[in-house]
Amino acid sequence: MTENTAMKEEIFEFAFQNIQEGVIVLDDTLKVFYINSFAAKLFSNELSVENFVGENLYNFTKNQVLINAIDTVAKEGKDASLVVELSKEMLTTRFDIKKFQQNGDDMILLLLKDVTKEVEASKMRQEFFANMAHKLKTPITSIRGFAELLDAGIAKDETQRRDFSKKIVKETKNLTDIINDVLMISKLDCSDYSCDKTEFSLKPLIYNVENNVLPLAKEKNIKLVINCEDIKVVANQNYLLLAIDNLIFNAIKYNKENGNIKVDVSSMGNYVKIVVEDSGIGISPEAQLRIFERFYRSPEAKLYYPGGAGLGLSIVKHIANGYNGSVSFETEQNKGSKFTMLLSIKKID
Ligand SMILES: Nc1ncnc2c1ncn2[C@@H]1O[C@H](COP(=O)(O)OP(=O)(O)O)[C@@H](O)[C@H]1O
Ligand SMILES: [Mg+2]
Repeated sequence: MTENTAMKEEIFEFAFQNIQEGVIVLDDTLKVFYINSFAAKLFSNELSVENFVGENLYNFTKNQVLINAIDTVAKEGKDASLVVELSKEMLTTRFDIKKFQQNGDDMILLLLKDVTKEVEASKMRQEFFANMAHKLKTPITSIRGFAELLDAGIAKDETQRRDFSKKIVKETKNLTDIINDVLMISKLDCSDYSCDKTEFSLKPLIYNVENNVLPLAKEKNIKLVINCEDIKVVANQNYLLLAIDNLIFNAIKYNKENGNIKVDVSSMGNYVKIVVEDSGIGISPEAQLRIFERFYRSPEAKLYYPGGAGLGLSIVKHIANGYNGSVSFETEQNKGSKFTMLLSIKKID
């Protein structure tokens, strides 16, 4: 072997042991001739390359789909691609399997890729669309029902006709709210918080939110007390408005008649701390584990306030994360809840 070939081999070996894809070569008896460390890890966290070389690959997996695929490639020589769950850690691995010849001997090349994240993302997308379709169905079915009743002239009198029309308008509003939340989530998913921002004063924005929510608060005779420090911040105004609006709207929606809400906005180092405390229904232990999930609504919440997509808090969390912050809560059933959002948005002079 010339010095040059030896050097090339060393370089290839170094590259193969460091790439984020698995490479395995099997000889014609399906014994491991070559394996890089990434492939070894995909099979087992406890074993290293040395444990595999010279051993039959089937000693390391019981996955029948993979075994059959390798057998078929070995017998028929046609390439195969498959996705399997390989290890105990439930990593999803994509295998590309090819037969080739080396010095007249049949060999098999396996290329492995960890596709766990891609598969999870695709599952989440599917679930997202299924959930969205489900959420949209309820108001649409209701709108169609009342529209058909009106169309068939079933309403007894003008009062009932009005009642049906009002229900249609209400459900249409609900539908629009759901669609707006879904659009906002997809906008946030691809937004860049670090460049999309301006400098502004927080106080006027908070009072803007107050104006938005006052009609609903009045309907339930809820007292809203706002305490806001005069803070200059650098952020996207719309996102901030949306996050605070969602927290205060929840505090009203899930509050009792004649309840109270306290909003406190203060600064803490580079952070702005926004606390929204209500005297509402509180959150059950089961719901506490899920309230930040997209589309989740607790059974109590559905009874208390039928409309809503269950996207508000996931929007709040997205925005808090986007500003290197957090959102947390304390709650007691039938007593109330207190949500605290921290955002790293204070303007530094
Ligand atoms: N202030 C609150 N008091 C009681 N429950 C709340 C409060 N805020 C949120 N929740 C619970 O968290 C769930 C998710 O909230 P959110 O994502 O804003 O969706 P939505 O308000 O559309 O139901 C609500 O359905 C409710 O169960
Ligand atoms: Mg909400």
